[in-house]
Amino acid sequence: MLNLSEDDEAYIVDLVRKRKEKQVSKYIVMQEFKKEDYLQFIKNHSSVVIEDTRVPLRKKWRIKTFTPPDAYIPERETVWSFPDRGDWATHVGDYRGNWSPYIPRNLILKYTEKGDTVLDQMVGSGTTLVECKLLGRNAIGIDINPNALIVTHDRLNFQYRPLTGEYTEPEIRVYLGDARNLDKIPDDSIDLVATHPPYAHIVSYSKSRVEGDLSALSFEDYLREMGVVAKEAYRVLKPGKHCAILIGDTRKHKHYVPISFRVMQKFLEAGFILKEDIIKQQWNTKTTREKWRKAVYDFYLIAHEHLYVFRKPSKKEELRKFKLSTAW
Ligand SMILES: C[S@@+](CC[C@H](N)C(=O)[O-])C[C@H]1O[C@@H](n2cnc3c(N)ncnc32)[C@H](O)[C@@H]1O
Repeated sequence: MLNLSEDDEAYIVDLVRKRKEKQVSKYIVMQEFKKEDYLQFIKNHSSVVIEDTRVPLRKKWRIKTFTPPDAYIPERETVWSFPDRGDWATHVGDYRGNWSPYIPRNLILKYTEKGDTVLDQMVGSGTTLVECKLLGRNAIGIDINPNALIVTHDRLNFQYRPLTGEYTEPEIRVYLGDARNLDKIPDDSIDLVATHPPYAHIVSYSKSRVEGDLSALSFEDYLREMGVVAKEAYRVLKPGKHCAILIGDTRKHKHYVPISFRVMQKFLEAGFILKEDIIKQQWNTKTTREKWRKAVYDFYLIAHEHLYVFRKPSKKEELRKFKLSTAW
């Protein structure tokens, strides 16, 4: 027999009740990872390991420029291609699967104003947050992998004081957490979600994954859990605002597996309306392309990803007119 105090007993009864009512999430809760934690960490470390790759921590950056090349004009069409990737500010392409800074930059410029709040709930090396810092947008970055948060703080660890134009240093917060449980973010509070989820674990290989990493799941489980990610994104976004996700496809047994289409359906089922399907050309992909480059094969190498932009309908908006762009 357990000898519980009245308080303990009341707590347990309450917990059981909440679990029954599904008020307690099975996913980890958000915990802030502050700049001081990062500064403490870099006193004794010069790199972190993400999966099987060592990522150096720069600590002090020598920044040549804070902007894309002068000739760059924001995108106007639905096919995007960035062969130079983008290396302004602290952007370096050494985090596995990081997205080109041109992508969050375009999204932020099109869908937000200065002072708005952007969420990247699978923030990786912090590319989105660096763009928020440069463009004066408040931001929240979350990742399941604590080492990713160290890289994110490392990339944010620079001074930015533009000489021209109005600039207010934005508030940027970084959390350890799970994209399926944004418990510290209130409903209807975010102006833009811009994120690049990991892809489903189609080809089996045995790399160590952090617990809760979506890429470790089977395809069916991955799709189900991306449905949970979509619902949380929908909950926290302000009505009328946008949610953008970059997602690619793969092959199995030499046939096409349209991961992106299946994920898109999950976002539509969560209540979003499809605003854009942007094709992003892929450069220097390390996986299938190198493996197959010299071989003779009977299929085309996948060289694109989909950047879906969804919109959360405004309150009282008549949804019937969007029926061809919503869940079917
Ligand atoms: C493709 S990377 C994002 C790269 C990022 N856009 C950048 O530029 O560095 C996907 C990230 O999702 C994170 N992740 C995987 N499962 C997650 C989950 N359940 N919740 C939050 N983050 C997760 C991984 O740790 C990884 O950092």
